Amino acid sequence: MDKHEAEKEIQKLTEQIEEHNYKYYALSKPAISDFEFDKLLVNLIELEKEFPELVKPNSPSQRVGGFVTKEFQQVKHKYPMLSLANTYSEEELNDFDERVRKVVTEGLEYVCELKYDGVAISLIYKDGLLDQAITRGDGTQGDDITTNAKTIRSIPLKLQGSGFLSEFEMRGEVYLPLKIFERINKEREDAGDEPFANPRNSASGTLKMQDSAEVARRKLDSTLYYILGENLPYKEHYESLEHAKKWGFKISEYAEVVKDMAGVHAFIKKWEKKRHDLPFDIDGIVIKVNSFRQQQMLGLTAKSPRWAVAFKYQAERASTTLNSISFQVGRTGVVTPVANLHPVLLAGTVVKRATLHNEDIIKKLDIRLGDTVWVEKGGEIIPKITEVDLTKRKTNSVAVEFPKECPECNALLIRREGEAAFVCPNEKNCPPQIKGKIEHFVARRAMNIESMGSETIDSLYKAGLVNTIADLYDLTAEKIIPLERMAEKSATNIIEGIEESKKVPFERVLFALGIRHIGETSAKKLAYHFKTMDALEKASTEQLLNVADVGEIVAKSIQDFFSDPHNKKIVERLQEKGLKFALGEEEIALFSNVLEGKAFVISGVFEKHSRDEMVNLIEKNGGKHVGSISSKTSYIVAGENMGPAKAEKAKKLNIPLISEDDFLKMIEKK
Ligand code: IVH
Repeated sequence: MDKHEAEKEIQKLTEQIEEHNYKYYALSKPAISDFEFDKLLVNLIELEKEFPELVKPNSPSQRVGGFVTKEFQQVKHKYPMLSLANTYSEEELNDFDERVRKVVTEGLEYVCELKYDGVAISLIYKDGLLDQAITRGDGTQGDDITTNAKTIRSIPLKLQGSGFLSEFEMRGEVYLPLKIFERINKEREDAGDEPFANPRNSASGTLKMQDSAEVARRKLDSTLYYILGENLPYKEHYESLEHAKKWGFKISEYAEVVKDMAGVHAFIKKWEKKRHDLPFDIDGIVIKVNSFRQQQMLGLTAKSPRWAVAFKYQAERASTTLNSISFQVGRTGVVTPVANLHPVLLAGTVVKRATLHNEDIIKKLDIRLGDTVWVEKGGEIIPKITEVDLTKRKTNSVAVEFPKECPECNALLIRREGEAAFVCPNEKNCPPQIKGKIEHFVARRAMNIESMGSETIDSLYKAGLVNTIADLYDLTAEKIIPLERMAEKSATNIIEGIEESKKVPFERVLFALGIRHIGETSAKKLAYHFKTMDALEKASTEQLLNVADVGEIVAKSIQDFFSDPHNKKIVERLQEKGLKFALGEEEIALFSNVLEGKAFVISGVFEKHSRDEMVNLIEKNGGKHVGSISSKTSYIVAGENMGPAKAEKAKKLNIPLISEDDFLKMIEKK
């Protein structure tokens, strides 16, 4: 293909992809399968790789990210980003209506919308192209996060149709769907990082990540609710959103126009219960005057418009008694107080435990054993205690003391500077920390040592056979057969599993070491950046900071790990035992991001590759291998002898079957 042909082909593919993206996100009416869509995208990416000079800043290929921003530029907002006045009751809302009606005497209509609990964003479009995406910041100026926003599939890079102004701003919310929030938190816990408190924090943290490929992987979503520009050709807010939808924006499908406060109250009532079934968090309802002329008559205050107001739902809460507090020690030594409650029904589930997070929270609540407490389920998955009902406090109650010593090993607890958590510093001798590190090491996504559950680890530890991850490689079947509930067969399985783990690739060995703040993704990034354990170990702070999403804290954690003699010894022993401490050349050549965000099930036998090789290829190219078919599966790579049950399930869930060759084409390098 010559350059001229490539240019034409790139344009054709771009138009097709944009068209399908629009059908998928704005209209919720996909016209082709995900597989076909991805084929178009992969073709485009490949072609652009061949002709990099033809890549346009708004090409759909920008969706997969790959740009690293070390520092975001501050940008001043053309129109300040205001917030909304909050109301909490019917009366307060009626007061708002009264204020509006003093100014607007006829033809009043309200638009009721959901109040998405995410991060406010301003998108600037010039001649139909996304030009800039800016966070709210302090309302006057925010951060330019354009490269990250481009990875959000529901934000159009190029507008469809016609009738939009040559320059305008679109405001809305970027949020994280609940399912994805849960996935991210799971990954954070695996890395020994504190999980995000709620999807909103998670969305805002994600938008500020330096590596846009990582942002793409997190799958943020958006909803747009406001157009701003000079001389807008519309009379009403609702109408303007309908136009925006035609241009490709994702507009909430839940907005309604109502005539009066009865309509507003009905909308609130309707969503009071139904909001728990939404796949994202909302923290209330927004009520807006529909007519732009009336909005202008009402005007703004310094902080918020007079033509709109938010109504916040009370979080669902229940009252129960606090029976006791347990202090749990995690893999990283963090001591977490957990409240044991008298079981109580809350938002459809029975709650028996609630997190108390840390000492500061216990002190702030002034919580005492036997207290009657209020438990709430907000955006958070784990319920929390928000208040003590002092009217029910018993006279002789005493304050809860946070232990000074580790409840597991009696070491004096410490509190690191700037952190709220107490930590047991006895990393090398504290049983839950030792066992936790080993559990992490053998986990499926780390060294994948099968048949080694937490019970086995517990007995190995108690028998004095393993104290560190390196000890695993000194085990023999003879040593472990005498353990309680250990049959010969399971002993051989364990030893075989340990032997097999020596083939696990470097990036997973690195993750398995359990270095604080190093999750699966950052382990991969570090492995591909430094290529050998030795290079990583010797890396200077500057060199570490050159890796996307490695900041001072992560860099320090890596250096602390490798400068500790105890860890050094473990690492040395692992190397002697023959674990993979470097990437293979062919591994480096195979790495790409083309399967980013896709989940594959592989089934049957293949002609050109073993199953393990197939899994490897999926992961090396940024995809995910999953064991069983679900609605989240993107493709099934079907080999010879695929089971009929699988084929049936795939058909039922409408998941495309692809052949080994189809798959290889997806990852083919030109
Ligand atoms: S309208 C001029 N509509 O709530 C006011 N805001 O507390 C423009 N939000 O900063 C805001 N859903 O981040 C509006 N349907 C919705 C909303 C919404 C969520 C957020 C937005 C805003 C905050 C105000």
